[in-house]
Formats: sequence, C-alpha cells, structure tokens
Amino acid sequence: MRTLPLQSHSSPARLRAGILSGALAVTLAACGGGGGGSAPTATAAAAPSTLSGTAVDGYLQGARVLLDVNGNGLADPGEPTAVTDAAGRYSLDYSQVASPLAGMRVIVTGGIDTDTGYAFTGMLTARADVARSGQLVSPLTSLVDALVARGLSLDEARTKVAGALGLTVADLATDPLAVLASQPGLYTRQVALQRAVQLMASASQGNETAHQAQERVLGALAAVIVAQNGPATVGEIVARANASQAGVGRELAEAIEDTLERALRTQGGHASAKASLKAMDQIRHEMESSHEYNLGQAASRLDQRNRTTAYSGLTGSAGRSEAVNTLTSRDRTTATVSQPASTAGRLLASNCFQCHGTGGVGGFERIRGSDAAEVKDYLRKPARSDIMAAHAQGYTNAQLDAIIAYLKQ
Ligand code: HEC
Repeated sequence: MRTLPLQSHSSPARLRAGILSGALAVTLAACGGGGGGSAPTATAAAAPSTLSGTAVDGYLQGARVLLDVNGNGLADPGEPTAVTDAAGRYSLDYSQVASPLAGMRVIVTGGIDTDTGYAFTGMLTARADVARSGQLVSPLTSLVDALVARGLSLDEARTKVAGALGLTVADLATDPLAVLASQPGLYTRQVALQRAVQLMASASQGNETAHQAQERVLGALAAVIVAQNGPATVGEIVARANASQAGVGRELAEAIEDTLERALRTQGGHASAKASLKAMDQIRHEMESSHEYNLGQAASRLDQRNRTTAYSGLTGSAGRSEAVNTLTSRDRTTATVSQPASTAGRLLASNCFQCHGTGGVGGFERIRGSDAAEVKDYLRKPARSDIMAAHAQGYTNAQLDAIIAYLKQ
C-alpha cells in the first residue's frame, strides 16, 4: 500500500502553493469564519479534507492519482497521491494543501484497465472542482482539461466539449459505466477517443514521453473543438486534428465505436463489449509496436498469427465489410486500401479507378489524397493527345469537385 502523503511528506517548502499543517489549517478556518458565535471547530470538522472520485476508461484499478498542487505535472514530495481500487475509486487527502483546490489538476496514470485487463499506458486528467466527491477523471475530462490549457475557463471548456460531441455538460461528469445500458454512446465515445489519442501519440512520439505525446495530441484535438460549430463524431474530430496518423486514428475510433455498439446491443452486453475492446487494443498495440499504422493490415497479421478471421471481422464489419480492399498494384506490391467514411462522390470516382486502381491507389500513380485536385489541371490540356485530359473533360466542374472531395479523404 502507498504511504499516505500526510506521513510521507518531508519538504513542504518545495511546494509553490505551500502546505500548512493540519492544526494550522483548522486555526485559519476558525479565524476566517467571520467571528460570529458559531462553533468554529464544528465547521472545520464538517469540511471534508478529501477529494474523492472515480478514474474511468474502463475502471482503472491500481492507478496512481496525483493532486498536482504546483502544476508541474510531476509528483513532488508532499503532494497528495492515492491509488485507485478495483472500481476506479480514489480518495485524496488534501488536509495539508493550503491553497484552493479549484483549478488544480488531478492526474491519473498506470494501473490496469479493468475492461481489458491490460496495463493502462495513457494519462487521464481533470481539473479539481469545488465539489469534493464524485470527481470523475476520464478521457472526456482530459479533453476538457486540454481546452482549459488553451485558456478557456472550466465552464467554457465543458460547454465546448459537450457541444462538440453532442453531449450535455452533465454527461461529462457522469460515470459512463454506470449508465451503460441507457447511454452506451457515452462509454463508446470515451474509449474510442482515448485509443485514438494514444495511437496518434505513439505515431509521433519522438523524444517525448508517451504522456507528453498524448498531451500534445489532446492539444491538437482541443484546437479542433475550439474551432468547431455543432456536434461531430469522435472519428470526425480526430480526423481533423493536426497530428500524424489522424486518418488511422479516425478509422480506429470508428471501428471501436461500431464494434462496441454492436456488442452492447447483443445479449453479452458489457462482457461482449469488453472482449471486443480487448481485441481492438491488440490491433492498436500491433500498429504501435510495428510502427505500421494500418488498421486492416494489423488485423490481418493478428489473424494469421492466431489462425482466425476475428480481428479482420472487427475492423471490417458493420457496414464496413467492403471498406477494406487488398489490391495488387502495377508494380506487383500489395496494398490495403481503406475506403473513406463518406461515400459521396464514390460512384463518380469509380470511373477513375479503371486506370488508377481501387480507391485511387494501385494504378498509374497514387491519386488519393492531396494530389486529387491535380485532375483539374487536365481541363486545360488538349484532350486529343492526353488520355487523362480526355477523361477529365468528360465531367462537369461540380462532378470533378465531388470526385476530388471523395479522393481527398
Ligand atoms: C483511361 C485511363 C484513366 C482514367 C479513367 C483516369 N485517369 Fe488519371 N491518369 C491516367 C494516366 C495514364 C495518367 C498519367 C499520365 C499523365 O499524366 O497524363 C493519369 C494522371 C492523373 C493524375 C496526375 C497524377 C500525378 O501524380 O501526376 C491525376 C490527379 C489523375 N490522373 C486523376 C484522375 C481522376 C480524378 C480520374 C477520374 C475522374 C482519372 N484520373 C481517370 C489515366 C486515367
């Protein structure tokens, strides 16, 4: 068991905010009471000096919880810490913290995600609220925290995050596992978000720690949300982030949401969702450890290794069964092409695939992505001498725009 901070702190002077002894805190509370006749000791005793709540992705067990008094992101001597129990619950004793708690960060790292049984390698944060109990620390509060880091007030940040995801502000403080039956989307959004963040962080970690990289990715998502009007899916928000592998992050988030929603609708419910999430984590881990950020290929490799088709089923089913194509290009290399989420323009673009390959990959050149707009260059070339010009000129401008929008995804 972790020693209580009360017993372990040795150098209170190191904390910017300062720490008062329990006795002194009581005295100050009594003096600040306004000098009425009411019993000051009763007031002091009634005010709880613990900050308690729940750390949830799935519930995190054995995770380390820190009240970051001096805001440096690190556990310093004397700063309250706690370890979560099997239901993700923690209780921080802040009796020795002198400054107001509001705005301090609660930081959760490590432990086991009880939904998957895997080590939790992410970091969840939340701003301590005036309420002393029931403080949720979750992927959504981490996102709120990232908006606060960009200068928004806690209330503004909550309103923005809730609006961006089509939730209410109250949802952000609701334990998603407690309302799993009535509001499965609250759970599926968070776990999808958390995994997309960790995947994108791992894709560009460089010299940062994993947690620093995750904070950076959350910052990129916060920028998207600040600029966003109206609700969007986790996948859409992730896709717009200025972070590497945002496209794969989106695919992962969408595959997780699809898979879990389906699992939660079945008889198995949460148990079945846990199994699916575990498999999705294996696929994510396969991408992170191989540094090959391709959902379909990671799933196929796991299937080959385990002699199953289950992993590919998870990344490819629920209306996504035809979404991943394996093709052999003209230079005889094989590639996996994931079809973009929006199919608007796809039928028009299918004509282009006769020469450029499925999804615009595997033909003459890759025309998918930023190159797509170059098709308009062919409108100015004589069609007689250029097969591509002849082809492009068969479309109206609006049709070409639809094709470009499809290929750019
Ligand atoms: C009949 C076969 C054919 C069809 C159909 C076709 N293309 Fe092409 N495309 C080519 C060839 C061949 C080239 C390369 C030669 C050239 O640059 O003229 C090319 C080149 C391109 C390029 C430039 C690629 C680069 O990196 O230089 C783009 C962009 C492009 N095509 C987009 C499209 C789009 C969009 C469509 C559908 C509207 C389409 N193509 C349909 C044959 C085709």
